[in-house]
Amino acid sequence: MINTPENATTTETRRDFLYYATAGAGTVATGAAVWPLINSLNPSADVQALAKIHIDLSEIEAGTQLTVIWRGKPVFIRRRTSEDIEEARNVEVDELPDPIDRNQSRPGLPATDENRALDESGEWLVMIGVYTHLGCVPLADAGDFGGWFCPCHGSHYDTAGRIRKGPAPQNLLVPSAKFTSQNMLELG
Ligand code: FES
Repeated sequence: MINTPENATTTETRRDFLYYATAGAGTVATGAAVWPLINSLNPSADVQALAKIHIDLSEIEAGTQLTVIWRGKPVFIRRRTSEDIEEARNVEVDELPDPIDRNQSRPGLPATDENRALDESGEWLVMIGVYTHLGCVPLADAGDFGGWFCPCHGSHYDTAGRIRKGPAPQNLLVPSAKFTSQNMLELG
């Protein structure tokens, strides 16, 4: 299930902004997008498969999250606080229900925060915002582990987007992404 325009509105928080992107290697544009609009802008499957987008991160403050739509799915770009990073790095991998990093750039490694974060300091975390249970879009800054929470069946994720409690079988997926300059992220 995917968020409808109605419940998307109710899940937005002050710190959770929704942006959308059209196809191709363009810069992300802002807008009060809703799912039907996003779907109507989606490129054909072959274009989607190749699409990269560039996102300016300069306006994102620590402790906030930007959501962009990429290849028809929400992607969370989180600028984490030092507390978020410390909390995530203090967890032992063998405590985790899913011990795999789920990072498309380096798949199959242990689910340490270091293997999931975009940069060495851990300030940036980029994840596909679709729950790994039945596909709901999770809420930020919610749940028992200070990360994300899916109210559909009660899955709790930590500040590294790893499943900690509830029925979701996997950590949130980390897509291929890299910095192309100090504030510009390339997704895809
Ligand atoms: S789809 Fe979110 S917990 Fe089941």
